[in-house]
Amino acid sequence: MPEVFIRDMHESDLPAVLEIERISFTVPWSASSFLNELHNLYSITKVAILEDNVIGYICAHHIIDESYILNLAVHPDFRRGGIATKLVKEVLSELEGKGCRFIYLEVRVSNLVARNFYSRLGFKEVGVRKNYYTSPGEDAIIMMREL
Ligand SMILES: CC(C)(COP(=O)(O)OP(=O)(O)OC[C@H]1O[C@@H](n2cnc3c(N)ncnc32)[C@H](O)[C@@H]1OP(=O)(O)O)[C@@H](O)C(=O)NCCC(=O)NCCS
Repeated sequence: MPEVFIRDMHESDLPAVLEIERISFTVPWSASSFLNELHNLYSITKVAILEDNVIGYICAHHIIDESYILNLAVHPDFRRGGIATKLVKEVLSELEGKGCRFIYLEVRVSNLVARNFYSRLGFKEVGVRKNYYTSPGEDAIIMMREL
């Protein structure tokens, strides 16, 4: 398989990103949510590219020594190939360089795939946010890892 590489997200990636977002989540982010991240000095937005096509993306945010993964998805045709691992590792190394010490994220209780994925990367389940999600209404598990 040709090599997948990770680079910063550009506005021109948004149509492909929004398509993956729409098939990955019941409450997808809008274009303006992604644009806000693209123009936020404290955000890191990356895409995974295979033969000129966007096949996955990640958005993270940092403030002083804390950081958050806000969004992560891989196109269903390319899941289980290590793409999300590559995206997260790229972000972790950039955040470390910025002096971040902790990284957090929220995930649906029912999203066992993502919970398993993040556990494999050393994230621990540290709390619950009651009724955090809508469509369907659901609690969030808070996961955290030291950098
Ligand atoms: C979660 C998600 C981003 C993982 O992307 P991915 O590129 O398939 O992940 P990777 O290939 O890097 O997986 C690494 C490890 O995570 C675990 N994992 C990933 N998908 C899994 C699945 N369907 N079932 C069980 N474990 C899984 C495995 O341990 C896997 O390692 P292995 O393939 O060697 O067994 C992807 O499934 C996705 O886009 N889901 C929909 C959106 C979402 O839930 N995002 C996260 C919430 S913000």
